[in-house]
Amino acid sequence: MKRRDFLQFLGVSGTLATLPKGLLAASLKTAKFTLPHPPPSTEDKLLLVEGLQHKILLRWGDKINATQTFGYNNDYIAYQPTGQDQGILWVNHEYVNSLFIGGPARTRQNIDRERLEVGGTLVEIKRIDGDWKVLPDSKYNKRIDATTPIPFAWPKPIAGKTTAIGTLANCAGGQTPWGTFLTCEENYDMFYGDLDRQGNKTPSWQKWEEIYPLPPEHYGWVVEVDPLTAKAKKLVSLGRCMHERAAVTKAKNGKVVAYTGDDASNQFLYKFISDATDSLETGTLYVADLLKGEWISLKREDHPVLMEKFKDQTEIQVYAREAGKLVGATPLDRPEDIEFDPLSGNMLVALTNNKANKNFHGSILKIMEGNDDPGSLTFKHDTFVAGGEKTGFSCPDNMVFDPKGNLWFTSDISGREIEKGPYKGFGNNSLFVFLRSGNNKGKIIRVASGPRDSELTGPCFSPDHKTLFLAVQHPGEEGTSATDLTSRWPDGDIPKPCVVTIEGPLLDRIVAGEL
Ligand code: FEO
Ligand code: CA
Ligand code: CA
Repeated sequence: MKRRDFLQFLGVSGTLATLPKGLLAASLKTAKFTLPHPPPSTEDKLLLVEGLQHKILLRWGDKINATQTFGYNNDYIAYQPTGQDQGILWVNHEYVNSLFIGGPARTRQNIDRERLEVGGTLVEIKRIDGDWKVLPDSKYNKRIDATTPIPFAWPKPIAGKTTAIGTLANCAGGQTPWGTFLTCEENYDMFYGDLDRQGNKTPSWQKWEEIYPLPPEHYGWVVEVDPLTAKAKKLVSLGRCMHERAAVTKAKNGKVVAYTGDDASNQFLYKFISDATDSLETGTLYVADLLKGEWISLKREDHPVLMEKFKDQTEIQVYAREAGKLVGATPLDRPEDIEFDPLSGNMLVALTNNKANKNFHGSILKIMEGNDDPGSLTFKHDTFVAGGEKTGFSCPDNMVFDPKGNLWFTSDISGREIEKGPYKGFGNNSLFVFLRSGNNKGKIIRVASGPRDSELTGPCFSPDHKTLFLAVQHPGEEGTSATDLTSRWPDGDIPKPCVVTIEGPLLDRIVAGEL
């Protein structure tokens, strides 16, 4: 199918046009339903296909308790029920745009403000008269940010300390069977720079180290957060890299298994097999060798080369990338989100792109574990679907399955490349659904298009699948000053990252497997 046929434009205004207004609502009620074919858009709006509506639940800067506010650049979202139609939402705050916070000058005052904008938010929400609302007086409403002391769950100190100051670069995450949230520190070098094993320093983008010279080794971890107490710990067991996601499941023997991606070109896919059924603190970290279809352990004693190059297991955990490379892990095209397919039991990994390899549009990788057991040390793999002209999407990133196995996923074309070069014709970053059953099985439809420069992140269903929570991250990121704005979403003034709720008859119908 040609892209211009796939993306047929029929009208505008607040929705991604598909059918003349009203017709879709009518056709949703009938068996004869016309599949939407919405076009890409470059409008500065959160556009939804007809049959879906959105409401803003949380805006950057909203008060969440007496002293704290909702942070910047919301990303991963997770929901933990506290009652019927009521739960604690965890939202990651990945990075800052100095232009819209204190200002670009690297003063202590500006950096102090920025340090409160990353990390995560815990906020209790409830569906009241059909709409999700933040409960303003909930005892659970708390922030974790770049100033929060967070201990390392590890028997030895990291860079001489047992506690880190703060969490940052919080990109995607995960949830555990015991009710905690995981938040993954991704581009940690953006804040305090980086330090290699030879002691060479790389300066950061945000230059926080000029005021607070904290050890870069304290960042790049998966952090576990208890939603009831807001207590956090850094899981050294899962290794240190630019973690995107921590997808947790159980092996057939009941042990907990966590998969994590490392979002950089030519980095690896990791799997951690816990020694326990209810903790991620001790166990073995593995890296994927796709050529052999094997998970290779990063245990120092398992490899003479690791014995020679690393003084102890702690050093391997801190420099997991180096250890992975030494044992032959397979370089991948930016492994980002990871999800488990409810239809096949396979694991999907979003490989966003690898521009150096001229892979501009990315793909979604399918991993089939030996004996369908996440505890297996062998696997097979294949491409699930590839981005590009034929499929109409580029740069897959965050994903979520609904119970019928429809895959909802977002795209992450870099803000400065939207509608340029290989990305011409793909429009703003969007939310897509890959339909897996019914008359339209195998088709991919665009159901939302983000405001300018934004990325749609953290799709997360309410337990009844009537609501999709979605974060709109970095709208207007390419603006260069308060008067040269590329986006004014959502309020017509400076752009604000927000979490929205998406609902509607089209969502109900897709989730019911009726399209
Ligand atoms: Fe923060 Fe890899 O996206
Ligand atoms: Ca991401
Ligand atoms: Ca991304």
